[in-house]
Parts: sequence; C-alpha cells; structure tokens
Amino acid sequence: MASSNIIWHKPVVKRADREWLNGHKSTILWFTGLSGAGKSTLAHAVESRLLQLGCRTFVFDGDNVRHGLCADLGFSKEDRSENIRRIGEMCKLFVEAGVIALTAFISPFRQDRQRARDLVAEGDFLEIYCQAPLAICEQRDVKGLYKRARAGEIPEFTGISSPYEAPEIPELVVNTGTQDIEESVAMVINLLKSRSIILD
Ligand code: ADX
Repeated sequence: MASSNIIWHKPVVKRADREWLNGHKSTILWFTGLSGAGKSTLAHAVESRLLQLGCRTFVFDGDNVRHGLCADLGFSKEDRSENIRRIGEMCKLFVEAGVIALTAFISPFRQDRQRARDLVAEGDFLEIYCQAPLAICEQRDVKGLYKRARAGEIPEFTGISSPYEAPEIPELVVNTGTQDIEESVAMVINLLKSRSIILD
C-alpha cells in the first residue's frame, strides 16, 4: 500500500487556535444539486456575505477544480466518486485550517456524499440541497450542455442519462429554482448562526 510506514505528525497549532484567531468556527458547506441548479452562484454569494462578516472562506467549484486537481477525471460513476473523495479530503484539511469551506459539485451519488461527511466530525458537514426541477435547469441551460446531452453528444449527463440521488436528510433545502438569491443566502447564513459557526 502506498501510504505504509508514514507516521502522523501532530500539529502544535490546532484547529481551535485558528478558530479563536478567526473569530468563528470552521465547517464544510456542501452544496449539491443538478447542473444549472445554482450551486456555484449561491456558494459564491454566501462567500461574499461571509467576507463582509469578516469570515475566512474558500469555494471549491466543480468546473474550476476539474481544470486542475481533478483534471484527470471524467464523469463515469468511478471518476465522480474519486472527484468527490478528493474534494472531501481537501475540505477536511480546510476545516483543520479554521476555514469555512464551500463546495459546489453536483455530487450526484448519496454514497459519495456520505463518505465525505464521514471524514469529519458530526456537525462539520452541512449539506445544502439546491433543489431546482430538471425542467428549470434545462430551460436555463446556461452552458448549453443539456441541449448537447439531449442530442446524445454528452454521455452520462446528470439528470438525462446519469442519475441524481437527492439528499434524504440534508441540513438545508434551498429552492434555487424559484427563490431569489438574497433569500437563499439568508437561509444559509441563518444555518451557520443556528449551528454557532458564526456569531449571531
Ligand atoms: S460531479 O458529478 O463529479 O460532482 P462536477 O460538479 O465536478 O460533477 O462537474 C459538473 C460540471 O461539469 C457540470 O456543471 C457541467 O458543466 C460539466 N459536465 C460535463 N460533462 C458532464 C456530465 N456528463 N454530467 C454532468 N456534468 C457534466
């Protein structure tokens, strides 16, 4: 195995020290939903609001990460699992770094999201379901990908030829199909306050 004979080095500066320095707790805000549901838009809008509140944050965005860290991965079930595994591990490090990590990946498979959740302590993973009907995402078709998927040009496209498994008990459901962005941002900020991640 690749990781044998490796001994964990205990950090001197700990998560609690960093959280104290930052004046807020760290956590993962895991946005999941169909392509075009508004995950990235919402994650970035929440991040802007958190910046105004003086919080340290970072957004991991599917489209960006797939240009670098996950550039070797496609959209088969196995590749998507590996994509989410890497992001989960990365977020775990960011939580240790005292940061509020926001992710915007379709992350269509329940098992993959659960695995990311299991990497961190209870309460460190807040799943936010960006619920928008397929018809609305397809109608928006911001990137023109649904049209191409319907034409058979993109195999295994989520919602068309590959499944999306909706969360069963997410910490928050945001109706990104109809709700306006400010309302959605407020819901996420309230979630963070109710969990005492940020101060009220
Ligand atoms: S995930 O399934 O592994 O979580 P991820 O969020 O990283 O997906 O990437 C999704 C983005 O890649 C979509 O928003 C879309 O722009 C693009 N994309 C390209 N091919 C596909 C496909 N077959 N299924 C879904 N999205 C795709």
